Amino acid sequence: MRFIDLFAGLGGFHVGLANNGHKCVFACEIEAELRNLYKFNYGIEPFDDVTKIEVTKIPSHEIICAGFPCQPFSLAGQKKGTECPKSGKLIEHVIRIAKFHCPQFILLENVPNIVTITNGTFWRYLTNSFEKIGYKIYHKIISPVDIGIPQNRKRIFIIAVRQDIDNGNFNWPSANKLKKLNLSKILNKNNIHKHLETPKSKLLKHWQKLLNELSISELRSISIVAPEFGATYPHDFNKISFKEMKKYKGAYGQSLANCKSWDEIMKKMPSYTNKYLKIPDWLFKSAMKSRELFSENMEVCSKWAEKLDKKNNSWQILEWRGNFNDLNIYNHLVQFRASGIRILRANVAPSLISMTPTQIPIIPSENRYLSPYEAAKLQNLHRLKMLPHGTVKSFKALGNAVNAKIVEFITKNLNIDYGILR
Ligand SMILES: C[S@@+](CC[C@H](N)C(=O)[O-])C[C@H]1O[C@@H](n2cnc3c(N)ncnc32)[C@H](O)[C@@H]1O
Repeated sequence: MRFIDLFAGLGGFHVGLANNGHKCVFACEIEAELRNLYKFNYGIEPFDDVTKIEVTKIPSHEIICAGFPCQPFSLAGQKKGTECPKSGKLIEHVIRIAKFHCPQFILLENVPNIVTITNGTFWRYLTNSFEKIGYKIYHKIISPVDIGIPQNRKRIFIIAVRQDIDNGNFNWPSANKLKKLNLSKILNKNNIHKHLETPKSKLLKHWQKLLNELSISELRSISIVAPEFGATYPHDFNKISFKEMKKYKGAYGQSLANCKSWDEIMKKMPSYTNKYLKIPDWLFKSAMKSRELFSENMEVCSKWAEKLDKKNNSWQILEWRGNFNDLNIYNHLVQFRASGIRILRANVAPSLISMTPTQIPIIPSENRYLSPYEAAKLQNLHRLKMLPHGTVKSFKALGNAVNAKIVEFITKNLNIDYGILR
């Protein structure tokens, strides 16, 4: 079938559909660099702004693909939905094009919470709009791990089938769940990659030292919150008087006794208490556990905390999401996040995300970041002739892309299921 690739980006839809024998006849992408890349990779020069497309200029086609921009819908975004004037409204142009061309199928991909944002208003708008122009909507949340690719990346896949050919039950292919996930098969340190910066590398070593010296053999999903080592302040000090507060110890056991003002006290308190004068709920359990760890390992923790690099607040928290009983950071993946240093199991990569290149996964045993080529493999885009120049741009585009293998997977039976010969 012929397809058009709206919001084309790196062309995840293109690769997935082309692998099933379908042919791209038109694309659009607003970013000039991605347009040039698309031309280089696929031989098609995309149109720029979707809002400026004249529908009559688009060639006939059987499938519309649209990974419409997800920033306004992602959890990290502001949850603005259609109220967002810039990208929330772009779906209207998909509807406009579909209304004119009436292709058999429309394929959309986005973050799963488009179903719930603005109390479901956006989702109702989307489904009603497509139903009104004659389509039946099917949707499913799929992650690459579901089809054997070692990346956690839940996305909603929406397929709108034209009502006259709809058989009432779109057939989502079932995945072979038995496939074992193994990121190491994708890793190759000989690819061009970025080394881990020395301060970060030293920091990981220092945290490993603590894990080695603590008298614990396992860590469940908690964070070690170093500023709680030696702290005694009440977890919620919102209503506590200045005089009362001076009786306690702040971050790293600093005495508050000689403080002359609340400002002085707050300088000795952990940064995460600054906003609401309490330990945030999401950190509470870990903070209490960290106090316990301290009291059971006082000497080790005190000596260790003195030498901890405290340049960044987030470097003082270790978020353990790795194996419970293998406390070796170097057998895991690492991600530097705003909330802390996250330790993840080594067999599956976290979701590639476009907005913060600082969160590129790290392979600590090789003292390096995941390479753009390895990330492209996680999106099944590694056979492209070219990726954007530089790590940051590559990760941004790859984090924006739809997983090409999932597209290939869900569309493999389209022609057969609907008896389409073209
Ligand atoms: C979520 S990404 C989709 C990526 C694509 N599906 C892929 O596999 O790489 C959204 C894309 O829409 C593009 N975009 C944003 N506004 C646009 C507009 N008004 N017209 C065309 N493209 C636009 C962005 O530059 C971005 O590449």
